[in-house]
Amino acid sequence: MDKSLPNRAIEWRDQQLILLDQRLLPGAVEFLPINDVAGTFDAIKNMVVRGAPAIGVTAAYGVVLSALAHQQLGEEQAKQQIELDISKLNKARPTAVNLAWALQRMQQCLHNQNNDWLSALEKEAVAIHEQDIAANKAMGELGAGYIGEQSAVMTHCNAGALATGGYGTALGVIRSAFAQGKLAKVFANETRPWFQGSRLTAWELEQEKIPVSLICDSAAASALREHHVDWIIVGADRVAANGDVANKIGTYSLAVLAKHMGKKFMVVAPTSTIDLSSAHGDDIEIEQRGRQEVTHVGEKVMATEGTSVWNPVFDVTPAELVDVLITEQGAVENPSTSKIARLFVK
Ligand code: MRU
Repeated sequence: MDKSLPNRAIEWRDQQLILLDQRLLPGAVEFLPINDVAGTFDAIKNMVVRGAPAIGVTAAYGVVLSALAHQQLGEEQAKQQIELDISKLNKARPTAVNLAWALQRMQQCLHNQNNDWLSALEKEAVAIHEQDIAANKAMGELGAGYIGEQSAVMTHCNAGALATGGYGTALGVIRSAFAQGKLAKVFANETRPWFQGSRLTAWELEQEKIPVSLICDSAAASALREHHVDWIIVGADRVAANGDVANKIGTYSLAVLAKHMGKKFMVVAPTSTIDLSSAHGDDIEIEQRGRQEVTHVGEKVMATEGTSVWNPVFDVTPAELVDVLITEQGAVENPSTSKIARLFVK
């Protein structure tokens, strides 16, 4: 890759946000410069950047772009404008709680700072980004401890470097297990309708020479039966206080399959993905996206114009189907409200 190109999917360079355009992968590696809040909002909404932690990191940089745009105003007026931009950014996508979490951190930083709030916000956004990468590496090590020698695992959607500040949550565990020589094989589900599995996860794993077989979502049960897969490992968009997990549509069916077939089910998510204000999964808003994601593959039409479509892009897996939740603060086996609460006790 050209050395002048960013080496991360999200890069903050010379007070500009540069995003790898994930809509074009794996066909093209192109970076999109983002210079304002409207551009940040559109990039999140239209999936230039996606994945819960990556959305949070991007939004944090969006707040810095807002501060840059309003730095000439008096402090009070500038802060009001930045507040408005924070509320706009908060509406970009509803399910990934890392968005609200990162914006709340930026808002607190804005209010705690009287002088030099621009550089304080910039430092805070960079810290959110760097801390996410560190959390992923810690989770990678912790999660890999659960993986036995010569294991095969299955993953769904993309919970990799592309979906986070870097390294990945579920793919972080897979990367660490592979580095420890334990991992023989990864099955990546294609993940309809947006194909995060085929377009992003298989691409990321191939870059690192981690053996991967891409399968249709509907081949998951057969792959689990025929290939002795040990663990299903996924990320999360929001974990409720009781351990229910909202993640990419199709995750719930995999958890049910895992229970039926005696496979282990691991969720890997930093504490920034845990939402204590959602008591359980029913409190989590599930994003619905447009019909065209289902009726078309790229430009190709796969259904009649009159076909009605239901396209929820996340589902909720009940906590009782989760064997272990890996966070940067520790592993929670058979998650429950009290065990999750303990993660937040200082
Ligand atoms: O619609 P997306 O691509 O943003 O959905 C992403 C997922 O569902 C991921 O599994 C989740 O955000 C975890 S990413 C570390």
